[in-house]
Amino acid sequence: MPVTFALLFLLSQATADPCYDPQGRPRFCLPPVTQLAATAASCPQACTLSPGNHLDPGETCNSNGSLTLALGGPFLLTSVSLRFCTSGPPALILSASWAAGGPWRLLWQRPAWPGALGGPERVTFRSTPGSKSTVVASHLHVEFRGQARLAAAGLRGRCQCHGHAARCAARARPPRCRCRHHTTGPGCESCRPSHRDRPWRPATPQHPHPCLPCSCNQHARRCRFNSELFRLSGGQSGGVCERCRHHTAGRHCHYCQPGFWRDPSQPISSHKACRACKCHPIGATGGTCNQTSGQCTCKLGVTGLTCNRCGPGYQQSRSPRMPCQRIPEATTTLATTLGAYSSDPQCQNYCNMSDTRVHMSLRRYCQQDYVLSAQILASEAVGLAWQRLAVHVLTVYKQRARPVRRGDQDAWVPRADLACGCLRLQPGTDYLLLGSAVGSPDPARLILDRHGLALPWRPRWARPLRRLQQEERAGGCRGLRAPTPSPRPEHY
Ligand SMILES: *[C@@H]1O[C@H](CO)[C@@H](O)[C@H](O)[C@H]1NC(C)=O
Ligand SMILES: *[C@@H]1O[C@H](CO)[C@@H](O)[C@H](O)[C@H]1NC(C)=O
Ligand SMILES: *[C@@H]1O[C@H](CO)[C@@H](O)[C@H](O)[C@H]1NC(C)=O
Repeated sequence: MPVTFALLFLLSQATADPCYDPQGRPRFCLPPVTQLAATAASCPQACTLSPGNHLDPGETCNSNGSLTLALGGPFLLTSVSLRFCTSGPPALILSASWAAGGPWRLLWQRPAWPGALGGPERVTFRSTPGSKSTVVASHLHVEFRGQARLAAAGLRGRCQCHGHAARCAARARPPRCRCRHHTTGPGCESCRPSHRDRPWRPATPQHPHPCLPCSCNQHARRCRFNSELFRLSGGQSGGVCERCRHHTAGRHCHYCQPGFWRDPSQPISSHKACRACKCHPIGATGGTCNQTSGQCTCKLGVTGLTCNRCGPGYQQSRSPRMPCQRIPEATTTLATTLGAYSSDPQCQNYCNMSDTRVHMSLRRYCQQDYVLSAQILASEAVGLAWQRLAVHVLTVYKQRARPVRRGDQDAWVPRADLACGCLRLQPGTDYLLLGSAVGSPDPARLILDRHGLALPWRPRWARPLRRLQQEERAGGCRGLRAPTPSPRPEHY
């Protein structure tokens, strides 16, 4: 039983914190008073003062002596006691300084003792408890006039913890307070990095002035105090969170960084409150999304939260610039009505229908103006005579005199050639395009007409076409020239 009692007593001692009341509210607290410094010297027998205040020859009493004591840090002085050999000096000055070398503050002064003889043997200075003129000193200076010899000096006081600590390592240099109220520093003279919402203030018995936490939604460990924000808030809050983690940003780490969006299913204090946008590298215009919905900014025709698919009325293309192309109504209509047109008597003998099956010999290859594979992206009517196709050229096998580049560009088809069904073109489909060498109105343009061919692409064609390409480069087309171009009829 006595053991249990002793343990309980120790535990209650350990948990009772003088800096907090039993309800856990901060309160003014002070470390205990301790002995801060002490000096002692032996008193020679001979040092006696004779009447008339003059020193006998051979005496060793000091005259006009002084002593400086360095305390090794700031302390709140509570008492200074001095003891002199026999009687004290006729005059005594006690001063203290906050730092080495002054400025010195006069604590206590006794003018010349009446009667010209020595003063009292013991002198004690005490600071008035609770008075506003508390003495904070790191150095103490004792000075006396006349003949006397100091036998001992003792200083008592407590660590200067500004009312924020009840315990202190007084012998540490500098003395270190065990700071409470979320303060820090040897003397609890600043707020901890996480608690800088208000300016630091010393505690008073009336108000503990604890440091208050910054609201960083558990995303930052540090904040700094901004006096302008504090003033604007009417003296309520001035903390600015620093180094917000978990992809958060803002004064209180209360919103998401660019490239992240706020997941509404998670509280803002969650590590997962901000989620990456994951915008599709081709479908989206950039990597940032709407911070509240997560919606990436999609290119034209693209849809989905991350811009990963084509919207209604659009279909996928091979062009990274425009990954989704509108399904062109004009061409689909044309395609579906082709049968009707091709039975038109005007179409008779217009196209070279024998060309729907092609045997691609070297001769035939060499006679083409160009040979390339391309995807038809979209088409639109331009005037009455021409249809403009948006194409994405994938591979150029046979290059023409005016080089065709790879990638997105326009191609032109006479509408009549489409209407008679000489060329059957479906947007969104890959074709092998054979260009005729017949003269075109503009040699810079890529023309596709009834003299050429558009065949739905088969991957197995790639190898033989490469072989023909190599033969051509090795000079295989010499002597297999294309037929001389005949002029295109004027009415197109
Ligand atoms: C002691 O100090 C006083 C006042 O400053 C001075 O008049 C006196 O001469 C000094 N005495 C000695 C022995 O230095
Ligand atoms: C983000 O999405 C929300 C909800 O969908 C919308 O109200 C807001 O206008 C969007 N913001 C921007 C900048 O587009
Ligand atoms: C049709 O093809 C044959 C043989 O391939 C060719 O001689 C003829 O000129 C072509 N006709 C047209 C209109 O291109």
